[in-house]
Amino acid sequence: ASRSLTTQASQRPLYIPNKIDDPNYIRIFDTTLRDGEQSPGATMTSQEKLDVARQLSKLGVDIIEAGFPMSSPDDFEAVYAIAKEVGNDVHPDGYAPVICGLSRTKFQDLDRAWDAVKYAKYPRVHTFLATSEIHMKYKLKMTPQQVIDNAVAAVKHLRELGCNDIEFSPEDAGRSDPAFLYEVLGAVIQAGATTLNIPDTTGWNLPHEFGGLIEKLRKNTSGADKVIFSTHCQNDLGLATANSLAGALAGARQIECTINGIGERAGNASLEEIVMAIALRGDQQMNGLRTGIHPVHIYPTSKMVMDYSGMMVQPHKAIVGANAFAHESGIHQDGMLKNRNTYEIMTPESIGLSRNPEDAGIVLGKLSGRNALGSRLKSLGYDLSGEELDDVFKRFKALAEVKKGISDEDIVALMSDEVHQA
Ligand code: KIV
Repeated sequence: ASRSLTTQASQRPLYIPNKIDDPNYIRIFDTTLRDGEQSPGATMTSQEKLDVARQLSKLGVDIIEAGFPMSSPDDFEAVYAIAKEVGNDVHPDGYAPVICGLSRTKFQDLDRAWDAVKYAKYPRVHTFLATSEIHMKYKLKMTPQQVIDNAVAAVKHLRELGCNDIEFSPEDAGRSDPAFLYEVLGAVIQAGATTLNIPDTTGWNLPHEFGGLIEKLRKNTSGADKVIFSTHCQNDLGLATANSLAGALAGARQIECTINGIGERAGNASLEEIVMAIALRGDQQMNGLRTGIHPVHIYPTSKMVMDYSGMMVQPHKAIVGANAFAHESGIHQDGMLKNRNTYEIMTPESIGLSRNPEDAGIVLGKLSGRNALGSRLKSLGYDLSGEELDDVFKRFKALAEVKKGISDEDIVALMSDEVHQA
């Protein structure tokens, strides 16, 4: 496993929606400000949304789904402000993020979404309609033919408005009949859709199943070679990242995800997990897949979203959790002190997290060994060995039995006891 990580963003193709001809390039579509904001209690102010959008642009996401303009006047204003400002922030390499607004297939919604995004350099409208039997019958109360007709009418309406970057999602595709999906998707491609997003809305699919669905859709949908397929995986079974990667391996070239994996219910696929999996394993294990993300901005973005949404990630969350680069057991600590590749597959610095270079992420506790304590004492200015170190180690172990997490202050206090006893 390699800890060295060169940013892949330096190889980003000049962004012209859907004209990227690198077959291995995965577009990162961030929906923190839309699906992420649907997390119970995660509401952000318009100013906070604008800050997050600026940060996402720094991170290098290809598409920012800025909100659902029809859902409230505030959401419209936030999407409009993001489109005008962040959507025109062209970076020196020519990149500017696509700004996207979500919309139902109702014309009023589509008009509102287009009005909110149209001033961005690259505007997109994302429209959706459910295609699973249960959603059509109980939620929409529509026949399959009505669903096809509505979806086609929505895409045609967007074309008439002047929108030429159109994403369509068959909601609950993960539980829809694939044969019906071929029909709906073929019809919206013919009407002018440019990205087909395949949502596993309820997080029902297993990775091989979701990858298989993308493969079947690409093979059997008429006009599939003219559009980009996308994944949108919810995390109800904890499989959102795995399903998204399976989708990419099956040919999807856009992945929808959120910072820290926030989103409806158990959340969405986590941007940081997907990006780092592709950055570290894309070359060898994923047929050369790559993204345009600058990993060094991952941690500051994660922290900003935690602060603004009030949704803290669990300590053991992959990549950005407080323990993601912490080592507690004696065997691991000993390995880390000898060579950091023994227990870390990436550096904290590569995701923009700085830590004391001397402590190697070692957390002192009851499982820590003598070497780890000696090393921490050294960084605190006490160079001990032999019996002196044995003695402090004994007292450290006694303290660690009764106290969770030993701080540097505790170590200094142990040393002053030592001086006292001498
Ligand atoms: O989960 C879902 O199906 C969605 C769609 C609107 C893409 O959020």
